[in-house]
Amino acid sequence: MPVPPVQKPPDTIVPVKPRQGIHLAINGEPYLHTGDPDMPLLWYLRDVLRLTGTRYGCDRRQCGACTILVDGKRALACERPMRTVAGKNLTTVEGLVGPDGALHELQQAWIDEDAVLCGYCQPGWLMAAADLLRQTPDPSDADINALPNLCRCGSQPRIRRAIHRAARQLRGSST
Ligand code: FES
Ligand code: FES
Repeated sequence: MPVPPVQKPPDTIVPVKPRQGIHLAINGEPYLHTGDPDMPLLWYLRDVLRLTGTRYGCDRRQCGACTILVDGKRALACERPMRTVAGKNLTTVEGLVGPDGALHELQQAWIDEDAVLCGYCQPGWLMAAADLLRQTPDPSDADINALPNLCRCGSQPRIRRAIHRAARQLRGSST
């Protein structure tokens, strides 16, 4: 009886060993970080993923330029090592835009109120404002003033107007 030929494995399937790492989602996309678990999240976002909207301002938890959302809540990317975001859903300023490319109400209000001066701090303010409006749909000036973000250009009055405008928009109110 003839011996059947040895079957070669398909060369289109490349076996890959499972990799240890930190699974997380950023702006709806899944990622696996296989590097140092103590790497600051801010470096991962900016240097690895090139999501440079999240800014490096002080690296000392003082300026808010690195503000993002972790599971929908305000967080500072400079103070979070990668190991603390395992299994979390992150949103950066790049993820504020809707899936159809429509600007978030806050982004539109920022444009309408001409809130941006040099611009460096603004992504952090947008993310802090998103968290504020999630918790407080009709914020007072004092609520906005209590946000821990800094702007050395003095755009706070414009930012305040923009947050009020976006809040009205989100509430479906013209007042
Ligand atoms: S860079 Fe994170 S608070 Fe300033
Ligand atoms: S707009 Fe320049 S630091 Fe805020």
